[in-house]
Amino acid sequence: MASTMLSLVSASALASPSLTLQDYRALGGSVHAAVLGKKKSNSFMKTKSRGRINMAIAVDVSRFEGITMAPPDPILGVSEAFRADTHEMKLNLGVGAYRTEELQPYVLNVVKKAENLMLERGENKEYLPIEGLAAFNRVTAELLFGADNPVIKQQRVATVQGLSGTGSLRLAAALIERYFPGAKVIISSPTWGNHKNIFNDARVPWSEYRYYDPKTVGLDFDGMISDIKAAPEGSFVLLHGCAHNPTGIDPTPEQWATIADVIQEKKHIPFFDVAYQGFASGSLDEDASSVRLFAARGMELLVAQSYSKNLGLYAERIGAINILCSSADAATRVKSQLKRLARPMYSNPPVHGARIVANIVGSPPLFNEWKEEMEMMAGRIKSVRQKLFDSLSGKDNSGKDWSFILKQIGMFSFTGLNTAQSDNMTNKWHVYMTKDGRISLAGLSSAKLEETIGILRLLLVDPVGL
Ligand SMILES: Cc1ncc(COP(=O)(O)O)c(C=O)c1O
Repeated sequence: MASTMLSLVSASALASPSLTLQDYRALGGSVHAAVLGKKKSNSFMKTKSRGRINMAIAVDVSRFEGITMAPPDPILGVSEAFRADTHEMKLNLGVGAYRTEELQPYVLNVVKKAENLMLERGENKEYLPIEGLAAFNRVTAELLFGADNPVIKQQRVATVQGLSGTGSLRLAAALIERYFPGAKVIISSPTWGNHKNIFNDARVPWSEYRYYDPKTVGLDFDGMISDIKAAPEGSFVLLHGCAHNPTGIDPTPEQWATIADVIQEKKHIPFFDVAYQGFASGSLDEDASSVRLFAARGMELLVAQSYSKNLGLYAERIGAINILCSSADAATRVKSQLKRLARPMYSNPPVHGARIVANIVGSPPLFNEWKEEMEMMAGRIKSVRQKLFDSLSGKDNSGKDWSFILKQIGMFSFTGLNTAQSDNMTNKWHVYMTKDGRISLAGLSSAKLEETIGILRLLLVDPVGL
């Protein structure tokens, strides 16, 4: 059809070097087809002025015309929209990064100290090996499993430095796609917005298991267990090691044990995403207890780690993929294949964040300082959570049970607001949040708490929320 339309146009009109994209559209032609000249019947090809037409195309029509506008990222898009809002009362509760009481970004003092040390040492900028900085890989696995864990001593963990949590998840997804073709990853419903993108991009099939129960604003444990049971044997079960994003709802230790039972029964492979170790409870060990429980049972498992939140190294892109295998020999082979997958993707990882982590975790005084700062960050979030609860429940006569707020952990609170209500928060009240009803407690300060609570109460108590 497009080529027929174009062929009706006079040769002189088409030959005009000033023919614009709008002109083509007005003619009803397919610019893509015209540009590529794919269709043999295309009259372009038959005119004597072919060279001039191509010139016009080169000037006025993009070869990328067929590429449509991508939708904004549902999480990062919130911050973009926030920046564009000029309202003085605007508040960003969509941000997944720690903020001080003054709602400012925070660089940890211990990070500044480590960076100064690095400057003093005058370290070079040579390429790292494909698997990353050896000192980083060692300390990151120790931090996760515990330095005394037999799995470390037995060298059963294949650790490769990744481009933060996201890149580490993506590398593992590539390994699953290559070595477990057809295997499914099952992910919680809901989950962090990027999980589905990652597995889609790696062409790894996925489906969801139940996790969130809107009736209780809590964990749908029975649904979760029955969906994990129902998944094809040998599936990968993606689990948030701590501080489930977006809900903030974690299983209890007893529930974790039952989850491990079912995964073992079904010969599934646990795949942990640990993006908040130490940041959730304030304790590195407590936040790694789910992973360590599974490891202690002798299970093989995957863990993607991130230092974005607990060390505030968001932009340094530092994390790791750890694959715990049943033997040191298997771990060596797995590591070799992870490196093989990484090489054509990004060749080797960046050094700066890896050195920061290695310096901090490897030096007892800096390590202790980090733990104190982490407790301080986790403490501020916990106190905001408590104030939110106190204020909502204290002034509310509706009989609504607000205890779900205190049962959640980590930076986020899943409010139970639906998409329309979340939109309303933004459009009417200039409070920015993700459409799934998640708010980041890091985006709240004592000063901003009261005004937000008024709006939240309005929306949560009144189901229409208008
Ligand atoms: C559950 C979860 N996994 C992974 C990540 C990855 O973050 P990054 O790539 O910055 O380490 C995040 C960040 O928000 C997250 O919440």
